Amino acid sequence: MKKNDIVIDVDSVSMVFNMSKEKIDSIKEYVIRLAKGRLMYTQFTALTDISFQVARGEVVGLVGLNGSGKSTLLKIIAGVMKPTSGHVEVRGNIAPLIEVGAGFNGNLSGKENIYLNGYLLGFDRKFINEHIDEIIEFSELGEFIDVPLKNYSSGMKSRLGFSIATSVNPKILIVDEVLSVGDFKFQEKCKKRIAEMMDRDTTVLFVSHSIAQVKELCSRCIWLEKGRMVMDGEAKEVCEAYMSK
Ligand SMILES: Nc1ncnc2c1ncn2[C@@H]1O[C@H](COP(=O)(O)OP(=O)(O)O)[C@@H](O)[C@H]1O
Ligand SMILES: [Mg+2]
Repeated sequence: MKKNDIVIDVDSVSMVFNMSKEKIDSIKEYVIRLAKGRLMYTQFTALTDISFQVARGEVVGLVGLNGSGKSTLLKIIAGVMKPTSGHVEVRGNIAPLIEVGAGFNGNLSGKENIYLNGYLLGFDRKFINEHIDEIIEFSELGEFIDVPLKNYSSGMKSRLGFSIATSVNPKILIVDEVLSVGDFKFQEKCKKRIAEMMDRDTTVLFVSHSIAQVKELCSRCIWLEKGRMVMDGEAKEVCEAYMSK
């Protein structure tokens, strides 16, 4: 990997969450214990010493059971969370498709949410005005675009989120399980758009329930187990090793 081709550099990243040990039923009890310094925490290590680099244009899948740390790692790369130790360097704008509805407001219409979400992703009004028709068309929401988002299904929200995030032509695209919602036809359309982005040298980090999808879209794959990296290599090989475990 040539040094100036590296767009994501994850260096010895660990993530430890503090979780309250006891079940505390009221805020009052919480405040009292906090004041007395008697809040007990148990620590949970979600990621342990993860290092890898991604070159421009690579499409990297992340596989692992639920709770293996995939979303935590993607959030750290996207800058949503800071790691407990280690660091991450990213070159270029990221379009993070992390959770359905992150950056959305249920009381606003789909169209208003395009502006809201667009600003959060760093686009200005002029850019959004130029792209809004295309975003709405791709989302296939039709007249629902003027309905408050709280009336959308999760599939509809993810269609909108995907349409916004991929309209920018980002240097790096993060897709965390958002393709598993929505109907088959829309999934195909999203896959096609990701494939187009790959052709334009976009770097993609991809998590999906469907190993078939990972195999189909990714060139490389990283396998996480309980927050540790088990394998990093050619997508087909890693997926097969993971499946036969
Ligand atoms: N904010 C948080 N506080 C405490 N634990 C968390 C938090 N976020 C994630 N975890 C824990 O970290 C582990 C990894 O979660 P996650 O990264 O979501 O895994 P995956 O995406 O692979 O299913 C899980 O055990 C989860 O419960
Ligand atoms: Mg996850």
